[in-house]
Amino acid sequence: MSDSDVRPLVAGNWKMHGLKAGLDQALKVRDAVSAAGFAAPVDVMICPPATLVMVLGELAGGGRLLVGGQDCHTAAQGAHTGDVSAEMLKDAGATAVIVGHSERRADHGEMDRHVRDKAAAANRAGLSAIVCIGETAGQRAADLTLDVVRRQLENSVPDGATAANTIIAYEPVWAIGTGLTPTADDVETVHGAIRVALVQRFGEDGARMRILYGGSVKPDNARELMSIDNVNGALVGGASLKADDFLRIVGAYGT
Ligand code: PGA
Repeated sequence: MSDSDVRPLVAGNWKMHGLKAGLDQALKVRDAVSAAGFAAPVDVMICPPATLVMVLGELAGGGRLLVGGQDCHTAAQGAHTGDVSAEMLKDAGATAVIVGHSERRADHGEMDRHVRDKAAAANRAGLSAIVCIGETAGQRAADLTLDVVRRQLENSVPDGATAANTIIAYEPVWAIGTGLTPTADDVETVHGAIRVALVQRFGEDGARMRILYGGSVKPDNARELMSIDNVNGALVGGASLKADDFLRIVGAYGT
């Protein structure tokens, strides 16, 4: 199994950004990736805030632009004020949901076991789970990166994960929103270790599961980052808010 057999994904995580007026950027992306001349072998997704998932789902209309959520509850429905279920996201037009982003782990105390249950909930609803893992600056300084990433992977990914229903996003916490990125060698080492762990646990599915890199992916560094072994796409925060920047990152895979 070579890397080129895995179809990459470039996903934009809008975080808590985006009013209706900002949808023009998503429409620009939709139109660019739907154009007849766009033949790049890459999936393209935008994960807007929950308030915009349904409208973007309708605007995307099942075409080439995929729509994702940013979090989901573990239950399908119930007395959980303010939460959104994976079934609701699916109903709104999403095909995937991010779970375990470091901002949710930090802001909402989410632990690996919560993340695993959310990923399983996503799969139950027919969504792909984009499971985020990554070390903090302190853990990196203490040389714990591979330990942390392996432990998060083991405990955050449910046993039922397949190449079709699960995507891993390696996002060093210190690289998110900072403009800092690991060296290409470091990314290769971590993604290689993730691949080994996935193959050990999931066999052929582990070999084909997509491993995204996230953390300060920009138009200027996308080509280098996306060319690293076992990097099968990107999870993009800040640079996904502007269609031109996001499309230049997608363009790392040709157009
Ligand atoms: P960033 O965010 O691209 O703004 O660093 C990435 C993420 O948090 O998914």
